[in-house]
Amino acid sequence: MQNQLATMLEEAGREIEACATANDILNTKAKYLGKKSLLNGLYGRMKDLEPSERPAFGNLLNEARQQLETLLNAKSSAIKAQSWKKENTDMDFSMPGMPSSRGGYHPLSIVRRQIDEVFISLGFEIAEGLDIEDEFHNFDALNTPADHPSRNLADTFYVEGGRLLRTQTSTVQIRVMESYQPPIRIISPGRCYRNDKPDPSHSPVFHQVEALVVDKGISMSDLTDTLQNFASIMFGARVRSRIRPHFFPFTEPSAEMDISCVACSGAGCRVCKGSGWLEMGGAGMVDPNVFDILGIDSEIYTGFAFGLGIERIAMLKYNIPDMRILFENDLRMLNQFRGEL
Ligand code: DAH
Repeated sequence: MQNQLATMLEEAGREIEACATANDILNTKAKYLGKKSLLNGLYGRMKDLEPSERPAFGNLLNEARQQLETLLNAKSSAIKAQSWKKENTDMDFSMPGMPSSRGGYHPLSIVRRQIDEVFISLGFEIAEGLDIEDEFHNFDALNTPADHPSRNLADTFYVEGGRLLRTQTSTVQIRVMESYQPPIRIISPGRCYRNDKPDPSHSPVFHQVEALVVDKGISMSDLTDTLQNFASIMFGARVRSRIRPHFFPFTEPSAEMDISCVACSGAGCRVCKGSGWLEMGGAGMVDPNVFDILGIDSEIYTGFAFGLGIERIAMLKYNIPDMRILFENDLRMLNQFRGEL
């Protein structure tokens, strides 16, 4: 049996060496290591040996098996390498690979995600609205008079069927209050559209994030507190915030929100035009008329709302001097944010 084994090994060695394709390897492997192989048969014939001779012979068989496997694997790798070389003669597989460049987030996306995170940490949920809206959600339910100039074609893009591209994310306040009873605590970031010519601080497409909180006992101090929390997390603990009286049809009282200038800390500079303050957006206490339109009892509930401009925040955070830069998508700008989350 030992002779048979030795002859078989010699033959197998020659045959493996002669293999030229992956298929040859498979066939040779089946022939010498498969079920019907001589080697397998020899395992079966061990019982014919004296018990004392069995261990040594078993070892021989195992070694033979290992030897065949090693030869087959080596030949198989050689064949693979050979076929690569044939197909791609110019390639040198020992060269290091080309680094693939990862994309990144657009600065507006980075800021939007940060805003989401800040408000989620403050207990808000995220609500989705619609880009194409109707006059009810964009104007009527927001207590906007029929002759309000913002309804004008010069300000609002109208589409077919009396619909329009929303001019503000305040529409989502209405959609949320239509569907849910208080307590409500949501933000809604999204795209808005206005018939504006692009300039350093305007774009016909821009982004806002709306906030709405409705519950029993909500007051103006909840608004200022939320604003201050947001400003410190977003721009640093030293940033201060304030509100100034203003007017919006859907809030009473209404306010504009400012933060202390992030460039000069309030001393006055070019960024804040010498005032020391930067305008962040509109805010106020939800007008009881809005609650009435939506069937929320204004005797029981009060609420605050605000809307922030996302471009403004991105421009301040990343020192971008002109809003149009955010929409041109020049790779020299975008590459600065590659890989950033
Ligand atoms: N929607 C207003 C705008 O686009 C901003 C705004 C003002 C939002 C007051 C509010 C608010 O939620 O309470 O100019």
